[in-house]
Amino acid sequence: MTRNRRYLVVILALALIATLIAACSFPPASLAAAAVGRNGMVASVDEYASRAGIDVLEKGGNAVDAAVAVHMVLAVTHPQAGNIGGGGFMVIHMQEGDVNTAIDFREKAPLASHRDMYLDAAGEVIPGASTLGYLACGVPGSVAGLWGIHRKYGTLPWKDLLEPAYRLAKDGFVVGPLLARDLRDAHEKIMEFPATAAIFTDGGEPFDEGDVLVQEDLAWTIKKIMDGGRDGFYKGEVAARIAADMKANGGLITEEDLASYHPFARRPIICEFAGHTIVSMPPPSSGGLLLCQMLAMLSDFDLEGLGLGSSRYIHLITEVEKLAYADRAEFLGDADFSPVPVDHLLSPEYIALRVSGIDLEHATPSANVSHGPGPPRGTTTAIQEIHGSPPVGERDGSSESKKDRKSDEIPESLETTHFSIVDRHGNAVSCTTTLNGRFGSCVVAAGTGVLLNNEMDDFSMKPGVPNIYGLVGGEANAITPEKRMLSSMTPTIVLEGDGLEGRAVKLVLGSPGGSTIITTVLQVILNVLVHDLPLEIAVGMPRFHHQWLPDETKVESASISVDVFQELMKMGHVIREVDALGDVHAVLVEYPTGGTPALLTGVSDARRGGIATGY
Ligand code: DON
Repeated sequence: MTRNRRYLVVILALALIATLIAACSFPPASLAAAAVGRNGMVASVDEYASRAGIDVLEKGGNAVDAAVAVHMVLAVTHPQAGNIGGGGFMVIHMQEGDVNTAIDFREKAPLASHRDMYLDAAGEVIPGASTLGYLACGVPGSVAGLWGIHRKYGTLPWKDLLEPAYRLAKDGFVVGPLLARDLRDAHEKIMEFPATAAIFTDGGEPFDEGDVLVQEDLAWTIKKIMDGGRDGFYKGEVAARIAADMKANGGLITEEDLASYHPFARRPIICEFAGHTIVSMPPPSSGGLLLCQMLAMLSDFDLEGLGLGSSRYIHLITEVEKLAYADRAEFLGDADFSPVPVDHLLSPEYIALRVSGIDLEHATPSANVSHGPGPPRGTTTAIQEIHGSPPVGERDGSSESKKDRKSDEIPESLETTHFSIVDRHGNAVSCTTTLNGRFGSCVVAAGTGVLLNNEMDDFSMKPGVPNIYGLVGGEANAITPEKRMLSSMTPTIVLEGDGLEGRAVKLVLGSPGGSTIITTVLQVILNVLVHDLPLEIAVGMPRFHHQWLPDETKVESASISVDVFQELMKMGHVIREVDALGDVHAVLVEYPTGGTPALLTGVSDARRGGIATGY
């Protein structure tokens, strides 16, 4: 497209947005500018990361190459969530060969972990034990995941892809407003750990926006990974330093834990909705399954007719959310350890049964909502166990072949991060990666610069006791050595049309936000596929969230009218206003007729202020 035509497209898009905003009784909470491109698009929370991804694409790398570079840069410049000491999930679509695969590089419980490790002698949860410090850490998965996808799909040299992260760690980078704020907010916790304070404070004071943050030890570790690949992290000096620091401070992760970590290529959760195919993350994330369950329940209703943002619309969706999250608490966990009845929970009969209980006029109190019936006894065909395939890069996965804590103590601003990438071949990567809480456990393994996660908190410590996101769980998500903790991360790719074969990417998206991730992704998908909104509005629209327990509907306070509030309260909803739900980074692909290359639109949510970059 010539420069003038591109400007024309942008001006027309802005005019359309202005018209929609003027006509809308449910105005966007916050609007981000969209980026447009024809050859490649990266949307992430961080400018350094998006730039590194685009540089890789411009050099001829594919979306997977770019994902390696973006993930590694985020580990340096967005240390509150970007990581090599944590884990995540990635949904990949490779256009050639119609590959749709879900990469699981989630942390696992250390070999020495045990079911009641966070309970005291009286059987009560020990406050903070699963969230802060050495005992909170799961065995990290990120480096193994990136190494695996690179060996399988990457095209550019591994070392080159890690070079930007290495340079940013070694030479430093300029602290932006988001990091400055997060470092300030987490300052007290950071100061509890000398190795962490040595890196993430400026001589004991929080860094300010504009300061340069250098991470020498992290650069040393990244160099080891550049030279040694996966083993540069999971074996040798880096692993020895992590294990030694763990041992000295009461942590559980050993060299054996690290050496035996493997990512998995899993069969994605796939469903159809509004003439499109949704490809999302299977267990050990609950994201894909709950997303498809909710879409299936909603497809019985005229959502357009209800009106986006009306009280009846919010009511219906929150009722559906309650049902799905009640199922989550009962049935979901790491399917490699206990079967998750995926087929049963997504079957038309089960969905119809769940929908039949929805009251369209009144909010059903959560106390009166529970999970649905499990699969009939003896019908093993109703149970789809999603066992991981052998380690990525070593052999293909089957996927490719075709009370202790109260809810009002839950902090709103936790960190995880998502990025979405589309390349000029039509390949796409949707990746959500996390340390769990902001700066994870706040532990930096001495001498490595690696911030470690506090992902163990995503296990169910004790039935009925909520985690930091207020989520409850039971047996399916109890701690077992080597098990992965249940997640809500929902990296998703939407394909044009029904079915998988020969389909092209339409939308790539995901979000942080703990338990609210799934409902965030759901709403953006509805905004695009049902309400036909331009991507920047679809992402900017106010969001709401219910997770069964606690019994409250969280609503972004900025832009819901008093009338809607009052109507919802009359229906029996307990409303809780929050500043922001989620932080979506998405890419939309449109296919003009007449052989013109696809138009890519990238949007990084204004809620946390990321950046989409295209070319
Ligand atoms: O895996 C999960 O569901 C959580 N550990 C994600 C944490 C998160 O999104 C925090 N972010 N805002």
